[in-house]
Amino acid sequence: MEALKKYQEIFHEQFDALRFDQKKPSELYGPIDYLLQLGGKRLRPLVSLMACDIFGGTIQKAVKPSIAIELFHNFTLMHDDIMDSAPLRRGRTTVHEKYDVNTAILSGDALLIQSYQFFEDLEPHLFKEVISLFSATAAKLCEGQQYDMNFMQQSEVDLDEYLDMIKKKTGVLTAAAFKIGAIIAQASPEDADRIYQFGENLGIAFQLKDDLLDIFGEKSAVGKKQAGDIFENKKTILFIKALEKGNEQQIKELKYWYSITAENIDKIYAVERIFKQLKVDLLVSEMIDEYTQKAQNFIEQIEGHKISKDILFEFSDRLISRRY
Ligand code: IPE
Ligand code: IPE
Ligand code: MG
Ligand code: MG
Ligand code: MG
Repeated sequence: MEALKKYQEIFHEQFDALRFDQKKPSELYGPIDYLLQLGGKRLRPLVSLMACDIFGGTIQKAVKPSIAIELFHNFTLMHDDIMDSAPLRRGRTTVHEKYDVNTAILSGDALLIQSYQFFEDLEPHLFKEVISLFSATAAKLCEGQQYDMNFMQQSEVDLDEYLDMIKKKTGVLTAAAFKIGAIIAQASPEDADRIYQFGENLGIAFQLKDDLLDIFGEKSAVGKKQAGDIFENKKTILFIKALEKGNEQQIKELKYWYSITAENIDKIYAVERIFKQLKVDLLVSEMIDEYTQKAQNFIEQIEGHKISKDILFEFSDRLISRRY
């Protein structure tokens, strides 16, 4: 896709020049540089530039805010990996494992602050609106992360609670990334909300796929510890669907395994077997399609676009077929 490539190039031109490896104290900034240099898909900044372009804005104006969003995303990952006891990120050792937990806390904080600083150059009227959306988004993300933690202690989580949790931990940042691009392009409030809704549903589909890849993904592609969610008793969509479809015996067995907190490889085999028996991977794939479709319905409603909206369709189609 030519347009996506163009946004990527524009983003990387400035982002790649941003290095933290020479900043002092190196104990604080080195780990930030380490995580950023591991790469990642860089989807969220792309999304902001895309939205800005669709509504006829000056793409360059959205570059620094898009960097802010990527830095913020990396901050959430640094802390998320502590919370999830994750050993691997983007195929490499996580920050808290490579350095230590205190380092990951403070480097994460510094990254969050750095993120906000990348909004400073916005014109005052845009700054206020963007910061206010961004802070509301960040607060929701924390709420989502807390529910995710709470659910680890619960033996059951219903589908609505789960959907609300992933909307907050993942959906709203994707949504805000789109809307920030739209705000900078001075899209109408109605269109800005439509692209927000598009992003939120796409973000939900994205998190469903993330849950699926935890166990059904190819380890080398995913770059995270395989079955990490099962080890951690995460109430993912796979678990919820399995509870919904399972017979009494399967439910009993699942709940038994999800009451164990010690690292246990038999648990992974047992849970995976139940997931496969119940074909939850297919059910989840259907849900991913559903949410992508729901997202795409909002594209149809967007009125004031300056370039073709097809790029949004193509982007969302590509996102659901991702392998990592
Ligand atoms: C991981 O996000 C966290 C989730 C919201 C699922 P990404 O899958 O976008 O991570 P990177 O940035 O590409 O590594
Ligand atoms: C990620 O959820 C949400 C945030 C980082 C805010 P996960 O915990 O599922 O993400 P991964 O799988 O570690 O990337
Ligand atoms: Mg995690
Ligand atoms: Mg998590
Ligand atoms: Mg995950």
